[in-house]
Amino acid sequence: MSSPRFAGAYHQAANWLYQLAQSHNGSNLWVDINDAPVLLIQRLAEADHVLRLNAANYRKNMHWFRHMLGPSRFSEDGPAWDIRRDLTQHYLAKFDRERTFNLACAQAANTVRELAGHSADGADHLSELCLRRLAMSVLVENFFDVPLNDTGVDLEHLASLMEFGSEYAFTPSVGKDILQHQRLHLLPALRRQIFNDFRLFRSNSLPPSPLLKGLLAADHDPSNNIQLEHELLTFFSAGADTTAAAVGWGCYLLALYPELQQQLREAVLPFWTSGDLSWKRLSQIELLEAFVSETLRLFPPTPIVTRLANSEDEIDGHHIGPDCNVSVSIIGIQHDALRHPDPWRPHLERYRNNACAGANVGFIFGPRVCGGKKFALIELATFMAVFLRDAELTLLSTDQPRFYWKSLMLREGGQPVHISLRH
Ligand code: HEM
Repeated sequence: MSSPRFAGAYHQAANWLYQLAQSHNGSNLWVDINDAPVLLIQRLAEADHVLRLNAANYRKNMHWFRHMLGPSRFSEDGPAWDIRRDLTQHYLAKFDRERTFNLACAQAANTVRELAGHSADGADHLSELCLRRLAMSVLVENFFDVPLNDTGVDLEHLASLMEFGSEYAFTPSVGKDILQHQRLHLLPALRRQIFNDFRLFRSNSLPPSPLLKGLLAADHDPSNNIQLEHELLTFFSAGADTTAAAVGWGCYLLALYPELQQQLREAVLPFWTSGDLSWKRLSQIELLEAFVSETLRLFPPTPIVTRLANSEDEIDGHHIGPDCNVSVSIIGIQHDALRHPDPWRPHLERYRNNACAGANVGFIFGPRVCGGKKFALIELATFMAVFLRDAELTLLSTDQPRFYWKSLMLREGGQPVHISLRH
């Protein structure tokens, strides 16, 4: 039997991954992507082998990302990755949770009002730009101590670059054809524009946040190949659009399951009137944590991670040769019916201590675990708690979602959700 083949436009890739999660549920299988054979992992045990236990044998396959965004912590391996990780991870892990919570509360309240205004004006889907601005505002102010509006960062320029990148994101190996791609000549100008948007980060006019100081020092050090703009670009695109996509999917789930929305609202409203508005207290609402986890399980913003084998290996009886493509379908793992009976619906009751839960797999695991996992989980729980407090979310279309890959997984046409203010 021939291997399932992906030959469509790249932005359709997540639709194909969902189909495979249904047709080959819980199986690892050879697939053909762009004429290259790829072992697609859809089971947790083998994902654990590739991403954690034998991670040293599987380097990242991110030519496309390096090509679009420049070498950065996201794309590099070995010593080039070690140095970048050491440069940023301390700040990504050791931030002030309460401050993040307060920033997320304030920004989410503004976003709900803005989205409700759009709905009142007849919008038939949530504005992706609004959600991206929400996530980016909190990220920038949290780590660089400056409001997004004062930085010159242009979200539309960043989105164009990500869209550009998505055309190559699913390519298992970069061939000559990419270099002949007709739109490629537009890339240098776009990158120049974005670097120009970032110029304040190089000037002395921004407050000297410890993260920025560290990045600038590394940029000035001739002994390495670190460029401030590359790291910023990666940080902003890895850290804001993913979270924004997850908020969109969370809103969709609330609108799709009104009883769940009501149950969650009843769980969070006592918090808002308690007089103790802190992350410490919000983080204790298990139902909210479970909802965030199930949102990430059902609709992982990063639906696949791609790797290349360094040397021979065997996975689930499949021989892996050097330079073999191995990809982990996060969608496949998170919909494995053996671990998740009735995998296509939210099940908030079974997220705890489940290695396969969205909050555990959606950010992957092992040495290349998402650097911003803790930060993203705080943001997401806080955003959803504010949305539940301030808004009613209603579904505008019962159509099954079609997925749109844009270096992260969005819904084609946007999330069909109406937002009305509760007071
Ligand atoms: C819901 C939101 C998010 C999701 C689902 C997500 C998911 C992921 C995934 C799956 C990876 C691994 C990619 C791979 O190895 O191929 C990753 C890496 C990364 N993420 Fe996230 N992410 C999210 C939010 C964030 C945020 C908010 C930040 C920054 C504050 C961030 C920073 C990073 C970094 C720096 C890496 C590279 C880690 C490394 O290889 O050293 N992410 N993310």
